[in-house]
Amino acid sequence: MSARWTRSCAKAPTPGSRYARGSAHSSLASVTPRTRTATRSPVARAFPSVGGGARRDLSDLSDPAPGGRLPSLLPAPVSQDRKGVTPLMLACEGGHVEVVRRLLAAGAPWNELDNDNHCAGEWASASGHGELAHMLIEHAVQAELVLGVVARRDREPDLSYLATPVRYDGDDKLLDEDNDAVMMSWEAPLMRLHARVICAAKGDVLNVGFGMGIIDGYIADENKTRSHTIIEAHPDVYAHMGRRGWMKKKNLRVEFGRWQDVLNAIADANHALPGGVSNENARLFDGVFFDTYGEEWDDMREFHALLPKVMRPGGVYSYFNGLAPDNIFFHTVYCRLAAKELGRLGFETSFDVVPIDTKSDEIWKGVKRRYWWGDTYFLPTCVLSGGTEGG
Ligand SMILES: C[S@@+](CC[C@H](N)C(=O)[O-])C[C@H]1O[C@@H](n2cnc3c(N)ncnc32)[C@H](O)[C@@H]1O
Repeated sequence: MSARWTRSCAKAPTPGSRYARGSAHSSLASVTPRTRTATRSPVARAFPSVGGGARRDLSDLSDPAPGGRLPSLLPAPVSQDRKGVTPLMLACEGGHVEVVRRLLAAGAPWNELDNDNHCAGEWASASGHGELAHMLIEHAVQAELVLGVVARRDREPDLSYLATPVRYDGDDKLLDEDNDAVMMSWEAPLMRLHARVICAAKGDVLNVGFGMGIIDGYIADENKTRSHTIIEAHPDVYAHMGRRGWMKKKNLRVEFGRWQDVLNAIADANHALPGGVSNENARLFDGVFFDTYGEEWDDMREFHALLPKVMRPGGVYSYFNGLAPDNIFFHTVYCRLAAKELGRLGFETSFDVVPIDTKSDEIWKGVKRRYWWGDTYFLPTCVLSGGTEGG
């Protein structure tokens, strides 16, 4: 396990959370849609609150001589020039704290991208204005917490992935019908660490999303847990599990279905039998891992809301942390957002910094879209309050 990293980096967010960030531009190759959680929507669309909030004329702004192109763009806080540059980006580049504050208050979109796919937060950190990047992250998290609720109200679940075939490419990849990667073997070292995290208490463990069964292999082979449950919804993956003998393994329960159905049934059964438990659906877990495909941040939020109903106090939750991995700023916002929302549900979240190397083109051969560029993975450990010291 990598060393736990306590942040002091100016670019990173709130004290108390553990984050690390490299140079914003170095790990940002593009903002193509990614193909794991929150994948099918381009990053900018992944935040429904884009452009939310009141918009007003800023011609009354009186900042001390911002200079450059900023004054000509200021009267329209949502405008972009030929290169996609916004007033907010220029204000961030110049380190004009008051202008940034007022632009945000006026509804300037924090997540607009310029033509090179860089957002205002990256303009701030690339110019050495870590305090502004920090301010933008806080603003983004708050905006998403408040405005995201409105945008989500009439959301329909996207079931398209589950209705289309997937195929295994040996033991190296699981691909969807467009040749986007559902899962790849380079993630094995990460899965091994996730398995250790959720199996720490050696109790009842749940994995959501079998994929290539990598984490399930580590749970079963390296961690002696009291029980092991897998929820998997794709019929082709389920058939593969059968062929590989997973249904016959001891101490293992495989639930075929969407977690939305399976977990709600467990939560309902737990609720019907408080304190305990003879109904076969009623169960509590000590460790939970979440890693699905074709779903979005909003699905994950729904999943999180179910956790306190199906986990024991002191239990440990972790998830594949691949939200917006192609933009370090958006990724940081998602880390903060997840930690904040999980905090409201009673979880304390910390992030371990794990180095990863996916540079080799060999790794991505046969995959339509590469989904990871960075050299760092922030592995989340989320502990549900109420446990006793030492488990
Ligand atoms: C990225 S893979 C999981 C990889 C796994 N962690 C491993 O170590 O191999 C995602 C899996 O989630 C499954 N999945 C997608 N949506 C689901 C849902 N709503 N409920 C349950 N499983 C789902 C997919 O079919 C796929 O098998």
